[in-house]
Amino acid sequence: MARARQADAWKTIARLRAQLEYHNYRYYILDDPRIADAEYDRLLRDLEAAEAAHPEFASPDSPTQKVGARIDKTFSEVAHRVPMHSLANAFDADEVARFDQRVREHLEMESGAVEYVAEVKLDGLAVSLRFENAWFVRAATRGDGRSGENITHNMRAVLGDAVCLRGSTAAAVPEVLEVRAEVFMRRDDFARLNDAQRERGEKTFVNPRNAAAGSLRQLDPAVTAARPLSLYCYALGEVAGAPPPATHWETLRWLKGFGLPVSDLTRQARGAAGCIDYYEAMLQRRAELPFDIDGVVYKVSRIDWQDSLGHTARAPRWALAHKFPAQEEMTRVEKIELQVGRTGAVTPVARLAPVFVGGVTVSNATLHNRDEIARLDVRVGDTVIVRRAGDVIPEVVKVDKSKRKKGARKFVFPATCPVCDSAIVYEDGGVIARCGGGLFCVAQRKENIRHFAGRAAMDIEGLGNKLVEQLVDAKLVGSVADLYALTEAQLAGLERMAEKSAANLIEALEKSKQTTLARFLFALGIPLIGAATAEALASSLPDLQRLLEADEETLQAIPDVGPVVAQSVLAFFAEAHNREVIAQLVAAGVAWPAPAAAPGGGDGVDSLFAGKTVVLTGTLSMARAEAKRILQSRGARVTGSVSKNTDYVIVGDNPGSKADKAEELGIEMLDEAAFIDMAGAEQ
Ligand code: IVH
Repeated sequence: MARARQADAWKTIARLRAQLEYHNYRYYILDDPRIADAEYDRLLRDLEAAEAAHPEFASPDSPTQKVGARIDKTFSEVAHRVPMHSLANAFDADEVARFDQRVREHLEMESGAVEYVAEVKLDGLAVSLRFENAWFVRAATRGDGRSGENITHNMRAVLGDAVCLRGSTAAAVPEVLEVRAEVFMRRDDFARLNDAQRERGEKTFVNPRNAAAGSLRQLDPAVTAARPLSLYCYALGEVAGAPPPATHWETLRWLKGFGLPVSDLTRQARGAAGCIDYYEAMLQRRAELPFDIDGVVYKVSRIDWQDSLGHTARAPRWALAHKFPAQEEMTRVEKIELQVGRTGAVTPVARLAPVFVGGVTVSNATLHNRDEIARLDVRVGDTVIVRRAGDVIPEVVKVDKSKRKKGARKFVFPATCPVCDSAIVYEDGGVIARCGGGLFCVAQRKENIRHFAGRAAMDIEGLGNKLVEQLVDAKLVGSVADLYALTEAQLAGLERMAEKSAANLIEALEKSKQTTLARFLFALGIPLIGAATAEALASSLPDLQRLLEADEETLQAIPDVGPVVAQSVLAFFAEAHNREVIAQLVAAGVAWPAPAAAPGGGDGVDSLFAGKTVVLTGTLSMARAEAKRILQSRGARVTGSVSKNTDYVIVGDNPGSKADKAEELGIEMLDEAAFIDMAGAEQ
């Protein structure tokens, strides 16, 4: 009896202490109290009374013994009652199959498949969170797995309302609940944080992981509180007072029921094959997820099986991390070169010792601009970290200055174009460097011709980069109009050009002459005119002569055309050289259907897609660019992500998360057949 009373008293004391710690934090650290002072005083008096009645529970750490919030100037040590293990790694499907085999052998399974839970492997920091009587009381880093650093105050802001767990409809919160979780930073939060750091002249972080680590290990909890950290729970530590569920799958739902954040990307997977399917699916989605993941994790779901499998000194035998190809690697800068683009933009590029990163071998990385080179202070010979995430261009994120060789010289951005020696002009406050040579610059000319020949432009099959290079260097082609004057004999005279391919190219050039006005306008390479704007120009002013004569007002009346774009069009057409090239092209036979016969009936006003915002997802039987063209020619705006402003989502095979989002927002989804139907039979 006395025992039971004592246990009750301890519960009350522990709960009151946790509550008061939390309110101290809200008051002293966040400066944002949740309760009135009188309510706080009541809690404190209750605790004083309880401690007075049970002096055996007195503690110098109790809020009754302290004034204000005691902030540790160092992180004290916390022992993990249940050790925090790491994970064994696998890098390919064979290793996953061997892991599954070991599990089956250990469990003496002769048939059937093991049920796994497949989760994303978040790229952040492991923490242990302890709740007593539903209240958050302590958090610690993983440390060496046996003990870590006390980061209790820093975790309070990250937990938000989860500092007090709620009983779910199915289960009450156990007296002691230790949860293992990953603290991480979302990519958009990371970008915003770095922008803010830059603005304040403070140090920026290399990647979201470093930002999360730096934010969590702040001695001042107010700094951590201001940082946008997120959290997902993925395992249990110590649990007392109520039995945890019998499977890991149910455990995650159990935690979610208490109000703890749990990833919704988690799935059940049957056997090694189910695990590999999950890996492939997540690898596909990696780039579009709002946070970085460095792989996936498979866990045997049945807890009795987990217990039977046990663990090695380092990692459980019932779990496996299946890692993605790294997105960051170290390599050496061999050269720094400048590339001149179609519009003269001069971009510095680092030529690298080849390195396998993000699933491909990378030997070039962009250095963006002059400011970026200065910020990184990257020099030839430096050891650098390169990053390639998803489909983005590889970039240098950091220089390892400790590895810099003596005498490495600072890179000096030249004053003249490395190709044509024209002066470089700076725009945008000096950030963008542009060669002033225009089409006099061979590099710009080559880029211009490449663009003209491209798939979305005149679509001249067989006119690749190498050939453009040869044609310009041999002075056979000076402007895009010269392409149509080429003869088979001239082409056959070029190195590595067989007679057959010369004939093929002449045929391709001939074929390209039949085009659309939109493609033609896009092909001209007018600054700021992408395929969509070219489409808008062509459908509003389907006559070239009228377009050439259009004034600013007429241009601005076209959807998607603002003052800057209008100016760019006017300036381009005002240039005598450009008019001449256009006249030569038309004289050579470049032509497009007359307005009335334009695809889809021209301006798209009658179309069901006119003025609608449409998103494409999954694989369609037609090319994505084609679907986009059909939609745009019918007056639709095609965007990349689903929001409440989206009107239709066109769903192909294996749709991605965009389809889920559309479903969630209740946006109308069309399959390919319905889309073609709505677009009208003739395409
Ligand atoms: S389970 C006993 N699940 O990866 C199981 N870990 O390389 C211990 N991590 O220290 C970990 N996402 O920081 C688990 N879904 C996930 C995870 C995950 C990220 C981290 C965690 C761990 C490290 C091991």
